[in-house]
Amino acid sequence: MYESMFGNTEAVARAVADGMARHAEVTIADIGAMPMVSGMDVIVVGGPTHAFGLSRPATRQDAVRQGATRRDAATVGLREWMDASADLHGVAAAVFDTKVDKPFSGSAARKAERRLRRLGCRLLVPSESFHVVGTPGPLADGERERARRWGEAVAAAAVAAAQRT
Ligand SMILES: Cc1cc2nc3c(=O)[nH]c(=O)nc-3n(C[C@H](O)[C@H](O)[C@H](O)COP(=O)(O)O)c2cc1C
Repeated sequence: MYESMFGNTEAVARAVADGMARHAEVTIADIGAMPMVSGMDVIVVGGPTHAFGLSRPATRQDAVRQGATRRDAATVGLREWMDASADLHGVAAAVFDTKVDKPFSGSAARKAERRLRRLGCRLLVPSESFHVVGTPGPLADGERERARRWGEAVAAAAVAAAQRT
């Protein structure tokens, strides 16, 4: 499930899904559609880093002012989806974000990871950040392939965890 204003996080989500598809059946969804997680063995969520963390309606509006292709900024992002997800107890999960490759620039994924833990999720792997070269993108060289490999690792971790239980 992805949130994406300029399309970079969506591109990463598609690459992650490609990697996961080697081990699993994968469904991709825009988080704005408030996808249901029931029936899923694993959820993977990703969003852009805004103002050092998760986006808010105001930061999404800012992205629109900067030319984001997604125009419905006031609607649901990763933060709002988690706000609406009362109980994810025992759900296996992994989180990623996109961000600029600069020190001290924050991470939406780190924030989301903590929040998902509190909602009861079991994190399969540490959260991961994928880099854009500037606010509108594009993705930095090699990030799409790194995302594909991360997706493979997430699915492999899910399979290994399922075999242990
Ligand atoms: C309002 C706004 C605030 C941002 N703040 C940060 C930030 O604090 N740290 C960072 O690394 N990137 C920041 N960025 C860059 C975004 O992470 C980048 O636009 C995003 O990864 C692109 O993903 P998307 O195409 O899926 O929207 C910001 C972008 C916007 C529009």
